[in-house]
Amino acid sequence: MTDARTDDVVADIDEHTVTDAVIASFAGTSDARLREVLGALVRGLHTAIREVEPTLPEWEHAIDFLTRTGQTCDDVRQEFVLLSDVLGVSSLVENINHRKAGGATEATVLGPFHMTTSPPRRNGESIDEVGGSEPCVVTGRVLSVSGEPVPGAEVDVWQADDHGFYDVQQPDVQPAGNGRGLFTTDGEGRFWFRTTVPAHYPIPTDGPVGELLAATARPPYRPAHIHFIADAPGHVPVTTHIFVEGSPYLDADAVFAVKRSLVRDFAPVDDAEQAARFGTVNPFRLAVIDLVVEPTGTPSS
Ligand SMILES: [Fe+2]
Repeated sequence: MTDARTDDVVADIDEHTVTDAVIASFAGTSDARLREVLGALVRGLHTAIREVEPTLPEWEHAIDFLTRTGQTCDDVRQEFVLLSDVLGVSSLVENINHRKAGGATEATVLGPFHMTTSPPRRNGESIDEVGGSEPCVVTGRVLSVSGEPVPGAEVDVWQADDHGFYDVQQPDVQPAGNGRGLFTTDGEGRFWFRTTVPAHYPIPTDGPVGELLAATARPPYRPAHIHFIADAPGHVPVTTHIFVEGSPYLDADAVFAVKRSLVRDFAPVDDAEQAARFGTVNPFRLAVIDLVVEPTGTPSS
């Protein structure tokens, strides 16, 4: 039954008023940040919906896509991180959060393969437990932006093997922890380890994100790289990659993570004495990688 009073107090919710009504519904949210996030999210989503005016089957398809993205996630597979990566959201969030003071190593995406804890290893140890085709030594320092070395910094490392696969993708082929290591810098801020030169690789294409890439004719490849997180006492941790100079796809990374400052030469070395010093075979490839971190409390630039 309708009465006059209902007409007075109940506003029609239509396509013009629904956005404000939803945002107003968050007015009682005591967490101001949550209120801000939800408001911005609703505004952005509604803007996109108004722009494309999806049919109901199209909206059901979108819900199904997100449902399957979630269902594809498990202990070692993170399809939502992958979706965030291929849409450039991970890159955008990293860039916003790392407006570094001059001189700090640029940050880039975490990626979907930091799923397990890296095994602690001693400097000089090999993270290649399988025996890859291109022996490689990686050496570097963790430095503060002032140039001072930082002793006792943790350097978390993970990489694909020389066929482009991470250990978690090949549990029957690679031992858990292959291609991973957690190192601690010595008294002079140095870290060093042996490995194999990683290969470029396709991100997993057998899930919903693969469908998205196929539908948009986008190649799924990432240029060869090693992931690093440098976490130094009194400094802001930096999550980054070092890319292999000359790798295919440096100009077409599927997850928009390449920065020129992060590309390094993995130089061929033919020097038996140096090889012996690093405990590797001769010849080998050598990458020198300094990771520069900013002290906590540095104003953003
Ligand atoms: Fe990676």
